Amino acid sequence: MTTIIYQEDNQANIIVKPNKDSTILEAALHNNVEHYHVCGGNARCTTCRISVLKGKDNLAPRTDAEKQISEDKKWTDDIRLACQTKVLGDITIKRLVIDQTDVDLARSEGNINIEAKERSLVVMFCDVENFTGFTASHLNNPYDVIHLLNRYYREIGEPIFSNRGYIDKYLGDGFLALFGCDNENPKNNGLNAVRASLRMVARLKELNKYLARQFDHQFKIRIGLHYGTVIVGEVGYCANKQLTVIGDSVNIASRIEAANKEFNTQILASQEMIEHIQDEVANNKISTTQLRGQNRSHTLYEITGFKQSDTVFLVQSTLEKVFPQLDKFTNQFFKEFYKLDPSLKEKFNKVDQKNKKQMVANMIGFLTQGINNFDAIISSIQEMNERHLARNIKPEYYPVAGKALVKVLENYLGEDFTPSVKQTWIEFYEQIVHFIENDK
Ligand code: FES
Repeated sequence: MTTIIYQEDNQANIIVKPNKDSTILEAALHNNVEHYHVCGGNARCTTCRISVLKGKDNLAPRTDAEKQISEDKKWTDDIRLACQTKVLGDITIKRLVIDQTDVDLARSEGNINIEAKERSLVVMFCDVENFTGFTASHLNNPYDVIHLLNRYYREIGEPIFSNRGYIDKYLGDGFLALFGCDNENPKNNGLNAVRASLRMVARLKELNKYLARQFDHQFKIRIGLHYGTVIVGEVGYCANKQLTVIGDSVNIASRIEAANKEFNTQILASQEMIEHIQDEVANNKISTTQLRGQNRSHTLYEITGFKQSDTVFLVQSTLEKVFPQLDKFTNQFFKEFYKLDPSLKEKFNKVDQKNKKQMVANMIGFLTQGINNFDAIISSIQEMNERHLARNIKPEYYPVAGKALVKVLENYLGEDFTPSVKQTWIEFYEQIVHFIENDK
């Protein structure tokens, strides 16, 4: 069986046994090895990079995304991104980013795509109401508090990353996130911030079920959104320099977040934010008020949803309901798949349940991630197709799989699978199939 040896300075080696087809990062995380991956494995941050000490020929070639980065950085063959690199045989490696200081350094080298300059973007502030009270009542078990915070951030972080956001700073139970680090389109950045906010509130409802069971407690978050100019730069001492944003827009977003308390709202946005997205986003004008520390008044709007169905939001939201019951969903999917074309049964019956589940998870994962960033999933689609071709799974099966997927989603989501959600899934699935058919 293949072995990955993690060799560290002044520490015992760590041995990891990867599953077939897994990347080095997936294998590490599966085996509880701490391996930094700030961008979540999306080939953006480079914090997962490794040096290959032995066995570099036992690694799959670089993906397109990794190729691009390695050319930009002029990396030699032995520097690889763990999140992009599949293991084909025994290797010995060394992590290059091993602690928070290294992560900060990686950022300061410009690996997170934010240039040190003035930018216009969306600033999001988010805070948990009465978290201090919860902490005080659980001080006898601080591990509970940390565990809960991590669980909270796992739920809340995903909608931000999958909508092109970047969490700049964690402040205990609160954080500052930015939308617009990779482009300066105010409308897109505003819509992405709204998609993320609405999904954060929805995901918190699920987390609250767990909290109620385990801690007899529920969280409520408050979100403040403002579009404005900030200075993005590095501040701090020596190696502890951190990328940060400075400017009145940050203060305004923070004050707007706090104003939720006064108006008993969850998502409040400034006039400057709303004017870019008012045709798409449902909002109520709440008040024109003087925010604390500001010498001019601001008009605030509560965001309640989208005026008409928003493709990206719908696809991402429906996924949320499927993933927790993937086993059941996979069985139903294959039942429909065989019903549509019984000749497929013989072919796919040889595939074990684990691989079937992985296929369905890939399909749903592509739809969710790619809906807001198709370029980010191109190399994964190409790799999936190559893998399928090697197993004699031909492109003509994809339309059948698409039909089966829609049928199961229909059964599974019931009235949540509205005609517009259905149309959205179909169109996006067709985009993927079209890409595969033309990528020859
Ligand atoms: S985790 Fe960010 S590049 Fe690999």
